Amino acid sequence: VPVPIFDCVVFGATGDLTLRKLLPALYYRFRDGQMTPESRIIGAARSRLSDDDYRARAARALEQHVPAQDHDKQTIHHFLNQIFYIPIDATEPDADWSQFLRVLDDACIRVFYLATSPDLYGPICQALGTAGLVTEKSRVVLEKPIGHDLASARAILESVGSVFSEAQTFRIDHYLGKETVQNLLALRFANTIFERLWNADVIDHVQITVAETVGLEGRGGYYDRSGALRDMLQNHMLQLLCLVAMEAPVSLQADRVRDEKLKVLRALKRMDPHDVATHTIRGQYAAGAIDGQPVPGYAADLGDGSTSLTESFVALKAQLCTLRWANVPFYLRTGKRLPKKVSEIVIQFRAVPFSIFPSDAAEWHPNSLIVTLQPEEGMRLEMMTKDPGPGGLRLSPTGLDIRFEKTFGRRFPDAYERLLMDAVRGDPTLFMRRDEVEAAWCWVEPILQAWASRPDHPRPYPAGSWGPTAAIALIERDGRTWHEDL
Ligand code: BG6
Repeated sequence: VPVPIFDCVVFGATGDLTLRKLLPALYYRFRDGQMTPESRIIGAARSRLSDDDYRARAARALEQHVPAQDHDKQTIHHFLNQIFYIPIDATEPDADWSQFLRVLDDACIRVFYLATSPDLYGPICQALGTAGLVTEKSRVVLEKPIGHDLASARAILESVGSVFSEAQTFRIDHYLGKETVQNLLALRFANTIFERLWNADVIDHVQITVAETVGLEGRGGYYDRSGALRDMLQNHMLQLLCLVAMEAPVSLQADRVRDEKLKVLRALKRMDPHDVATHTIRGQYAAGAIDGQPVPGYAADLGDGSTSLTESFVALKAQLCTLRWANVPFYLRTGKRLPKKVSEIVIQFRAVPFSIFPSDAAEWHPNSLIVTLQPEEGMRLEMMTKDPGPGGLRLSPTGLDIRFEKTFGRRFPDAYERLLMDAVRGDPTLFMRRDEVEAAWCWVEPILQAWASRPDHPRPYPAGSWGPTAAIALIERDGRTWHEDL
């Protein structure tokens, strides 16, 4: 269904996110007719480029980041004609914001997408307000992380909030746009068999892993100020945890879903410095090999000869203070330069309380439900079945498997495609509300503080390994292991 005509102004138009994710996402939406030919994309950044210069960059980005089978020359040509460029330095007090007034159409929806450093969110929004560019039909989209701690997040939220109302503000967390993540609601609340078992009586623990093989990818300037905790855990991973742990919302209305996620964030047990020391592990990759190819360590990737204390890996054990999740640990880990790109949630059920099967069943595995976000979206329910054949009643683990692309037989849109169109339509369901962002920072803050007060180096781990051995010890000392099939 086509969305209404819009102008989308992208600040940070020459940056990695815009070229790698936003332009390809908008191209697909244009190709499929959801973005109509009257809608426009206006890139804005510091470089002094003409419309044509920027179109040439956009063309190269599509070449690189859209698979060849989806290149359609004619469509790309039309799409590029919808792209314009305005050079602006948002940090410059006398920047000429009136250029936007001349280009933008008052009658249509206006999306300001801030793909910039979060320090610029406040200044850009203030400048847009002062220049009279914010109409009733305007929205602002903010990338994560919003700020680098609670105080800076609040300052940004305040400054943005003085120009755009909550209903006009779309705080993006692209994990919420992934199909499997949205499917968590369907899985839990549209199937009788899971919701009744979804509690501490039956679930032993939950694991959430987001592993990447990439290193800094030339984003060292941003990443080194951020680190894995701020870059991935404060947002993407806590959002996943919310969807796994939340109570059923009374409806699918955006605020009812977000109310329930907020309750989860508020129920996370706050860590004191002792908990931080025992329940969190930070690591930084050293030189190693991925897929047999040697790769440099973090400091070499930073490339400026400096050493850094920023973590590229974090593992932690979180607890929720709720009846449903009493004493059920949530183990979270994420890192760069791990052996595989894989994101998954493992719901580990308890073992049957009494087994009638012979104890030789060394392969005894309690049930688990594995929700895979990457590389292939799907779900697998691990069950015990009888090993077929005359050898007696021997058990063997087998899986009930759903691979979404195969099951539905169609391409799955990238998260940004869905989220960009939702922002145009004004549907905030898959975006973070202000109180969610604050609650997530509130929980992460004591970890940041405890780490800052003990600036021992993050533990090194060789690129291509599963992080520091201490991360394995974190779960093993509870008598559990990270999901072995990874
Ligand atoms: C981004 C982080 O939000 O998510 C990146 O800033 C990370 O560091 C990326 O690589 C991972 O996203 P995905 O969708 O590839 O798992």
